[in-house]
Amino acid sequence: MVRFPRRNSAARPGAGIAGQRWDPARYQRNAGFVARLGEPLLELLAPQPQERILDLGCGDGALTALLARRAEVIGVDASAEQVAAARARGLAAEVADGASLDFAGEFDAVFSNAALHWMRDPDAVIAGVWRALKPGGRFVAECGGAGNVETVRRALAEALARRGIDAEAANPWYFPSAEEYRVRLERHGFAVASIALIPRPTRLPGSLADWLDTFAESFLATVPPQTRPSLKHEVEETLRGRLADAAGAWTVDYVRLRFNALKPPERAP
Ligand code: BEZ
Repeated sequence: MVRFPRRNSAARPGAGIAGQRWDPARYQRNAGFVARLGEPLLELLAPQPQERILDLGCGDGALTALLARRAEVIGVDASAEQVAAARARGLAAEVADGASLDFAGEFDAVFSNAALHWMRDPDAVIAGVWRALKPGGRFVAECGGAGNVETVRRALAEALARRGIDAEAANPWYFPSAEEYRVRLERHGFAVASIALIPRPTRLPGSLADWLDTFAESFLATVPPQTRPSLKHEVEETLRGRLADAAGAWTVDYVRLRFNALKPPERAP
């Protein structure tokens, strides 16, 4: 296991997103597909054995563990519970706020799967990634992009509006277009080798209500606990005809934003 000093004293580890809890057991039950479907991103990263890689938003470490077979990897996540789950796999992991990363020129690559969309200050995140990378390093990531889970977001917003609640005020997600994120990366100095939106309809392992419990707690938390079952039921009934098949299996309209951005090497004086 790799040891590294505790940092990010300025961060608010575990401060997290209003209403959203990260329960590793629930996450593994309802969100195991997140790491599995992130595996192709490892091929874009193409990790090399001598490389040192930061996994930004490592969650419970399921994908980090695959990465750790191929390079030296350190995971960071805002959730203390998820970091504990990652450490239980034998991984090096630390609690850190993605918007105030405190690493300086020490990674060959920063990798991130299904995490950037929880970080609502993208410029602070990109600035921290830039600082963390060595010259010539790369930032390879995938997150929700424009249009991601739009059908569900809209049905949730409508159900909350019927209760007089503005869902946008509780929205914890940031789903940028490829163009928007490219401009942000370039403004920070990255050369964008590739960036694209990839529609990826995703079959859920359980019900849509389970998905809402796992990923949409910020919205659910806007109503009292006793109202949440009927809210989830209402959203399910609104979407059943569009997103569930005859056997009752749910497929949600995921859209990924995937990119590979390079921090240019330093030029000889
Ligand atoms: C996603 O991975 O695209 C996602 C995660 C949480 C909420 C919505 C989407």
